[in-house]
Formats: sequence, structure tokens, C-alpha cells
Amino acid sequence: MVVARRLSLRDVRSYERAEVNLGERLTVIHGPNGAGKTNLLEALYLSCTARSCRTANDRELVRFDAGAARVELTVDASDGAHHIAIGVAPGEVKRVTVDGAVVERFGSVPCRPLVAVFLPDRLELIKGAPALRRAHLDQLVTGLWPARGAARRAYSRALGQRNALLARVRAGRGADALSTWDRELARYALDLRDDRRRAVDLICGPVRDAAQSLGLTGELELRYRPRSEATTIEEFAQELEERLASDLERGFTGHGPHRDELLLLRDGRELRVYGSQGEQRLALLALILGEREALADQRGAPPLLLLDDVMSELDADRRRMLVERVAHAGQVVITTTDLAHVPGAETPGTVVLEVLAGSVREEVLAG
Ligand SMILES: Nc1ncnc2c1ncn2[C@@H]1O[C@H](COP(=O)(O)OP(=O)(O)O)[C@@H](O)[C@H]1O
Ligand SMILES: [Mg+2]
Repeated sequence: MVVARRLSLRDVRSYERAEVNLGERLTVIHGPNGAGKTNLLEALYLSCTARSCRTANDRELVRFDAGAARVELTVDASDGAHHIAIGVAPGEVKRVTVDGAVVERFGSVPCRPLVAVFLPDRLELIKGAPALRRAHLDQLVTGLWPARGAARRAYSRALGQRNALLARVRAGRGADALSTWDRELARYALDLRDDRRRAVDLICGPVRDAAQSLGLTGELELRYRPRSEATTIEEFAQELEERLASDLERGFTGHGPHRDELLLLRDGRELRVYGSQGEQRLALLALILGEREALADQRGAPPLLLLDDVMSELDADRRRMLVERVAHAGQVVITTTDLAHVPGAETPGTVVLEVLAGSVREEVLAG
């Protein structure tokens, strides 16, 4: 298991410089609105993934008036301590180094902490278009079974090639190559669909339980709804062939796992349509907790969990339930405007960080 020990920031968002230690189990970040709590969480996420959890535009990460942002993370892995550094500068390629050596594919670096994050803005995952949930599900598949990420990439490649071929056929060429590609696409499509189904089967129990313990009324159900139920490559290729006329008309492939849906239902009704904001928030939190438990089972250790501003909408019992559920194994970082909202903040070993206008101070609470 990989433990994140120490994070340092240089010109990231509202921070000019900051250095923080992370608790073995729990770290609490507290401070008033706008102080920089989410910025700090985002910086930690950045150090684990080389991406922001808030924006696709890296430029936003760089502190106003600064030229480049840098985060560094020290971790303890089974083979000892490692040092991860990520540099972001507008208009430049992101630079990731591990122990001083430049890394091209950060995703496959063993000492990189797995991370799961709850942000209130991520409600889009519940409310938004199916593509967001598919991407999230595919990320989960890769987290559960790292080698399966290849199936997703192979499918995207084959899909791109088939779409290019459709354009050529429209122009009157290449029709005979299509059936070969259909079989290729079919193979990866079935793999991808089966991986997604396996992942959903693994998490649906834990997600339902988490939702219940967080106080979501009614039963939360996850349902994977693939476009195709084909059981063989031939069957799927046949389905593609039947839709060829409309694919040619549209100019792209309209059938396959790139059109699948992951439904979140509360008592059988879609939360994205019928759920209140509060219900959607609880469902999102339950989804992230359930996934983390499945990842812990599968990978032997739970991912580092980042919870931004979850406490304010939970009552005292649910807060206690939440902390008990997440902090018994693995690392958790929780942000809050009110320290009293985090039960367990005074437990020995917990690191409490107070954030004020772009600076961080570690507090020692009497146990
Ligand atoms: N690139 C940036 N450079 C400087 N300040 C930034 C940058 N991006 C955001 N901020 C500032 O960070 C503050 C918000 O910090 P945030 O972590 O979201 O607060 P909170 O403690 O409420 O979570 C705002 O004052 C915003 O102006
Ligand atoms: Mg915030």
C-alpha cells in the first residue's frame, strides 16, 4: 500500500508556497469559505494523477501572476520512499518526474497513490450526460484491473478506424474492408462491455449499503445498460451490419459500448431526472465510497480518499457514520468550514490543517 506523507506546493492556485504533512489515516483541512481548502485538495489530487479534479484547463492551476505551478508529493510504498513532482506551465507540456526521472506514463507508475474524490461540483456525474458516467466507469475498471485499460483504448482505436472507414465508404471506396473492421470492433466491444458489467456487479452492493448508512431514503440501485447484449463476436458484427445504412447516413458508428448507459436509480427512478440536489449529493458520495471499498478488496488497499465539503449537509449521526466508514482503513482527507463537524479530528494521529488566505498551519489538538 502507498501512503502519501508530505505535499508541497509552489504557485498553485491561491498558494505561493505551502508544505503540509498528511495523517496516516485522517487529515482535516478547515477554514472559512474562499480560504483555499479545495485548492489544497486539488493540489493533492494533482500530485497523485497529474490532472486537476476541477478543471481540464491546467492554466487555472497556476497562481495569478506566476509563470508555473509545481506540486511535490513524498510517498511511502512497499519498496520505500519515493518523490513525485509535477510541473504545470501554460503552453508547455506537463512535466512529471518520479525520484528525479521524467515519466511518460504516470498512470502505470507503481508508487503513484490511487485516489478517489468527492467534490460538490462533481454532481455533473449524476446529473450530466451518459458520457461522463461511461468515462467514470471505465476509470473504475482500470482502477480495479489495471491491465484492462488496454481494452478501452483498443475499442476507441477500432471505433475511430471504423468511423474513418465509414467516411471512405460514403465516398464510394473501401466497402469490402468494413466487415473485417466490424469483427475487430466487435471483439473489443464485448470485452469492454463485460469489464464494465463486472465492475458494476462488484460495486452495486457496497454503493447501496453506503447510501443507506448515509441516510438516503429509498434504495439506491446501479444499473448498467449496454447497447448490445450480443454474446458472440459474430452476433455483434451482425448488429453492426444491420445498422450500416444509418451509420453511413450519419457518418459514424451509432451502436456499441460508446453509447452505453450507467443508471443510478432511487426506488427504481432515475436520480438524474427525479433526484433532489441533496439526494444526488448523497448518491454521488455513496458511489465514491462503494467504489473505494471494491477497489480496496481488489487491490489490497483502499485509495486515498478526498472529501470536499461533505459534512455541512449531513446530520451528526451521519457524520460519525461517514468517518467510521472511511477512516478505518486507508487515508482520508476531509475539508470543512467547521472543525466541529468532523468527528475524530481529535483522535491521535489525525493531522489538522487550518487554512487562512492562502497559507496553511498544522494544528496540534489536545487528544
Ligand atoms: N490560479 C489562481 N491564482 C490565485 N488564486 C486563485 C487561483 N484560482 C483560484 N484562486 C482563489 O482561490 C480562492 C478559492 O479557494 P478555494 O480553495 O476554492 O476555497 P475554499 O476554502 O472555500 O474551498 C478564491 O479566492 C480564488 O480567487
Ligand atoms: Mg471549497
